[in-house]
Parts: sequence; C-alpha cells; structure tokens
Amino acid sequence: MHVTSAVSVRVPAKVNLQLAVGPLRGDGYHDLVNVFHAVSLFDEVTAAPADRLEITVRAAPRSRVDIGGVPVGDGNLAARAARLVAARLGVEPHVSLLIRKAIPVAGGMAGGSADAAAALVACARLWDDRDAPALTRDDLLALGAELGSDVPFALLGGTAVGVGRGERLTPALARGPFHWVFATADGGLSTPAVYGECDRLRDAAGEPAPDPAVSDALMAALATGDAKALGAALANDLQPAALSLRPSLARTLAAGRDAGALGALVSGSGPTCAFLAGSGEDADDVAAALDAADVAAQVLRATGPVPGATPL
Ligand code: C5P
Repeated sequence: MHVTSAVSVRVPAKVNLQLAVGPLRGDGYHDLVNVFHAVSLFDEVTAAPADRLEITVRAAPRSRVDIGGVPVGDGNLAARAARLVAARLGVEPHVSLLIRKAIPVAGGMAGGSADAAAALVACARLWDDRDAPALTRDDLLALGAELGSDVPFALLGGTAVGVGRGERLTPALARGPFHWVFATADGGLSTPAVYGECDRLRDAAGEPAPDPAVSDALMAALATGDAKALGAALANDLQPAALSLRPSLARTLAAGRDAGALGALVSGSGPTCAFLAGSGEDADDVAAALDAADVAAQVLRATGPVPGATPL
C-alpha cells in the first residue's frame, strides 16, 4: 500500500426543494420523493493516518456553527463511514478525522450526512492500494446508502431526485445559480421526531398518506432557471410537523416572505428555514430583514447548485 499523508474533502449542505412524504413502510422509513439541491455551505473533513480511529470536530474558520451536539465517538456518522470503508478494503480503521463544520448542526441541511460522505471519499483515497481495485463511485454510493438516506446525495451534489427512502438518485437538469438565504435556529430538531409528528398529524386529521409524486412545475422551473416559478413550487410535507414541534418557525418564514423572498420553507426536517431570492441583491435584502426581525440564530447566504463531496 502506498502512503498518503492526509486527504481533505469539501462537502456541501442540502436543501430539499420538494419533500413529498408517503406512507410509513415496514422498515420504519417513509417512501419519499425528495428533490435535493446542494448549496454553498461547506463542511471540510481531513483524514490522516493515526494509531486508532479518532474524531475532532471544530467550527470552520469564520463560522459560528454550534458544534456542542456533535458526537465525537462512534455516534458520529463519519466514524461509521471510516469503519465501513476499512472493512470493505480489509484494513484497520486507523484514521484521524478532523471535521470543520460550517453546516448547521441538526438543522435539516444534512450536515451529519455530508460529513459521512466526505469521510467515505477521504478514507477511500487514504487507503487506496494501487495493487487492488479502488472503490468506484458506485461503491461509495452504496456504502453511503447504508449509512443514511441523505448520504448518497452528499456524494453526488448538484440537484437530484431521490426516491425510495431518498437514497435512489437521478440527477436533475437545473440551471443556476439560485440565490438562497438560510435562517438557523437555536437547538436542533430530531429527524425521527419530525417524521413521527408528520404521521401523528395525518392520523389525527384522518388523512391517509398520499403516494409521493414529483412536481412537474418544480422540474420545469429548475430546467429553465426560473427562480419565481421555483419559489412558487417549493414544497415540504414535513413543514407542518416541524412547525407543530417548533411554532416559532412560523414567524421566521413570515419575516422572509414579507422581505420579498420568492419562496420560503422549512429545510428538510428543520429547524433551519430556507428562502429563495431572485438575485444576489434580493438575497442581501432578505438576509438584512431576517437579521433585523431577530427571528434567526444566524442568517447565512448561499447559492446552488454546487458539486458534491470533492477532494481538495
Ligand atoms: O436515513 P437516516 O438515518 O438519515 O434517517 C433518519 C431517520 O429519519 C430515520 O430513522 C427515520 O425515522 C426518518 N426517515 C424516514 N423516512 C425516510 C428517511 C428518514 O422516516 N425516507
């Protein structure tokens, strides 16, 4: 095996442009149609040789992300990613993973999944043995799907439609850039709790879960780069559940809409709220209004789509 000193991989956050949640399956997951969109908020994972598996988590330079809740042991999805790659390659999982976070933690932007995707790519490179076939992109996508529903998309990036539990991906035609503003909240929301609340609200209303279907209007807006039409087509079936668990998000969404956002929705399972703006200048206005309204822990700007996990 040849020795590589360290590998750094940059990986984006995601926002869900459409999250259509179908019935609860026997395996505890929901059938989804999930239109993922990668945005320019990046975590960076550096893998270096070590005597054992160790994880260090830091806030990225200039980021004010709260890393308090990020596990540093085997509970960290990046550690499980390293173990999976090691097992697959037949090596010991001896690696030091340094995670620099700029993606909100437990925010509905798939930060943990992003770190796992970056760790897959970094460890595969670190342990690449020129005498044996390297792991292919498809191998990494399959390992990613074992780790979590959102991990394969963090490898792929861009804009993509996920079906099944969200892990079976087809890239979508999308013209960009689209200009985004994100409002983070203090304290995360648990993804299983938000899915559970979605089921509970549907049961209470006597609404059976619909079969999830991709929005033609959304796909057309993406293909033509029409931000106004995209804003109108944004949809998240988890939003009522996130609002039920965190009612204050209604004010955050309203503040962005009042400031001229073309679309406003909870990102994934929340609590981060996402706002689409028509231009970089409009995004500045929305960001300033959210700051002034004091409805967010932090207001972040980003554009999408951007590529998935990329070695630096
Ligand atoms: O796949 P991942 O571990 O990221 O999913 C976290 C949790 O989100 C699952 O345990 C499940 O409760 C919920 N989930 C779901 N249906 C999906 C994806 C996630 O119910 N398609």
